[in-house]
Amino acid sequence: MTSGAHTVRLPLTSEGPLDPPAPLKELRDRCPVATAVLPSGDTGAYLTRYEDVRQLLSDGRFSRPTAEDNAARIAPEGAGGVAAGGGSSLAIPLKGEGHQRWRRHLSKYFTAKRMRALHPRMTATAHLLVDRMLAGSRPADLKAAFGFPLPVYVICDLLGAPADDRDRFSHWSDSFLSVTRFTRQETETAHREFVSYMTDLVATKRAAPGDDLLSVLIAESAAEGEGMSDDELVATGMALLVAGHETTANMIVKMAAMLLSDRDRWERLLADRSLTRTTVDEALRYDANLGNFGTRRYLHEDAEIAGQTLPAGTTVFCDMSSANRDERAFADPDDMDLGRSPNPHLTFGAGPHSCLGQSLARTELQVTLEVLLDRVPTLRPAVPVAELEKIDGLSVGGLRALPVDW
Ligand code: HEM
Repeated sequence: MTSGAHTVRLPLTSEGPLDPPAPLKELRDRCPVATAVLPSGDTGAYLTRYEDVRQLLSDGRFSRPTAEDNAARIAPEGAGGVAAGGGSSLAIPLKGEGHQRWRRHLSKYFTAKRMRALHPRMTATAHLLVDRMLAGSRPADLKAAFGFPLPVYVICDLLGAPADDRDRFSHWSDSFLSVTRFTRQETETAHREFVSYMTDLVATKRAAPGDDLLSVLIAESAAEGEGMSDDELVATGMALLVAGHETTANMIVKMAAMLLSDRDRWERLLADRSLTRTTVDEALRYDANLGNFGTRRYLHEDAEIAGQTLPAGTTVFCDMSSANRDERAFADPDDMDLGRSPNPHLTFGAGPHSCLGQSLARTELQVTLEVLLDRVPTLRPAVPVAELEKIDGLSVGGLRALPVDW
């Protein structure tokens, strides 16, 4: 693949649950285009420098691998689930003109203004979750009590589903994402129930539109003469749940762990709330555990990266956690600086596939901080940080649980 390149076996391991894998700095310095060997045995190119990752993700010629591509597989055949499929099982175009059209319709909804408007409702939800946590037993698991439910409740609101149905959404999302906790049959049942629920919801919105995402998509796409079909709308609901739940849930928990593991950080925020906004972006940048395999791209034609030609047919793994710690792009990258600005991290990707939900995710993370700082200023980890366990997920990096006390 790349002559004279280092070969690394993914996933890389790290010393502590919040630390970056040790070999990354050396890879950035000596071998910015390495060869990665995946658990499946397949190989790909592995990018670790900021500029290279940004360049490749911004290159409109390349997309995530689809089922038709002969791309490197992460896991051996048979393993996986919706998350492992990278969305390829959905009725949404992943590349080309169709993808751009889908993105255009969605971005009509995901405006910063609309996301700001969701703030009060999100804050109320966060308070409700903290009420429940404080009323329960101690120590509590911040992931189960807060990090996991908040984003799924938010997506439920976004789609205009009634609040009474939130826990059903949680269950469905849980069974799409967990590869191990549910049987294949349970996952298929959850999928059927979700499709049938969403089909009814779409019919309701067509008959009586509201201010929710489905109603906006129906109206905007019709106005442009490109009306989205029920199947596309249902698949969009599913895609948002898959793209926006586990990612945000894990980030809420990792952000809390990063801040609580060093009391000075938490105290600094308590003393100066104006740091909340920059803290959210710094937590997004500092996260050393964005995922074991980075963001994938399949090369349909040759690409020039770091002075090397990567041939067509290569699957490229872009390590965003490594890019975000690249000393070529950030001063003192291994310091978590709560006031860092500007902060052009790559946690939401870049270019034509960059995260559509990023304003939403930022708002959720900000609400998390505001509500936790207000309601539980004495929050602390209930176990030593070294004992926190990472999930060895196929896609999103995270912690299994975050036991907390107050
Ligand atoms: C902290 C939380 C989140 C992180 C770290 C994150 C990260 C990402 C990344 C890295 C991508 C680009 C993938 C690629 O280039 O192949 C992406 C795409 C996407 N994200 Fe997020 N995301 C988060 C939250 C959300 C939320 C809350 C939503 C919506 C509910 C969302 C919706 C999407 C969608 C629809 C895409 C696909 C965009 C496209 O293919 O054009 N994400 N996200």
